[in-house]
Amino acid sequence: MGHGITEVIAIAGYEVIMRDVERQFIEDGYDSIEWSLEKLFEKDIIDEAPDNVLSRIDIEVELETAVANADLVIEAAPEQMDLKKEIFSDLDAFAPEHAILASNTSSLSITEIASATNRPEQVVGMHFFNPPVKMDLVEVIYGSETTDETANTASEFVESIDKTPIYVRKDVNGFVVNSVLGPFGDEAGWMVSEGRYEIPEIDAAMVHQRHYPMGPFELGDLTGIDVGYHIRKEAGKPIPPILEEKVEAEELGRKTGRGYYDYETGDGPDYE
Ligand code: 3HC
Repeated sequence: MGHGITEVIAIAGYEVIMRDVERQFIEDGYDSIEWSLEKLFEKDIIDEAPDNVLSRIDIEVELETAVANADLVIEAAPEQMDLKKEIFSDLDAFAPEHAILASNTSSLSITEIASATNRPEQVVGMHFFNPPVKMDLVEVIYGSETTDETANTASEFVESIDKTPIYVRKDVNGFVVNSVLGPFGDEAGWMVSEGRYEIPEIDAAMVHQRHYPMGPFELGDLTGIDVGYHIRKEAGKPIPPILEEKVEAEELGRKTGRGYYDYETGDGPDYE
């Protein structure tokens, strides 16, 4: 998600610094942005040359340096509350006083994340969807102390990068979209774990009957099986065994080359 968010912000004309804990992770993200921009340019979806867009992206490993002059920081770390709080405490120490601190969390409490800072009124959720470059919606989530000024600035920023914001005023687990998507993915997971159906059958049924762009398992592979796993674990929800098995095997979806489908052998979903 980090590189996808970086990409849409750079396409919109902003200067952006992409940061991760290891240089290799950032370079992998940078390569993905390069690939994506080439595709978008070839298809006239963007009219600016990829190199120009890339020239607005800097990379940095040191958090303190990365956020020293930021107006807005968007965190997209794994879905673990302790980790998020540690990061927000550091962001509070290192980012300028005026900076808004946003979390791309999929489901965790913005109120609790904000409690790790001395500026909870300037902490907000900005929840993007995967892949950000193709997904229009961004949820702008209030924590209990988020001011209207912060949420409105976040919302205006979302519009300025050509996305559609919706306000989520109740800081409930999963916000709007994942509250609906979660049970859908859960049911599909239990159906396979209990041996009632095969993965391709369920995916094909949802694509052919509901006209979804992809079924729940292909979607899990796209968003990251570990992301869904951590969302459920942090919420204390039962986890379908098929999901646990994939996480244990480190088959996390497209990013590892294999998940519910095998992308290395090209044996991906086939809806024909
Ligand atoms: N950048 C540039 N090009 C991309 C790309 C990207 N990030 N991703 C795919 N493409 C390219 C493909 O490579 C392909 O190129 P080609 O034709 O040259 O081979 C082209 O786009 C067309 O791709 P597809 O035929 O696969 O399909 P579409 O473009 O029609 O749709 C999709 C792709 C937008 C991903 C669509 O399948 C979709 O909407 N899927 C559902 C996604 C979704 O629901 N996301 C939200 C998940 S929930 C979430 O993220 C929340 C989090 O908290 C968990």
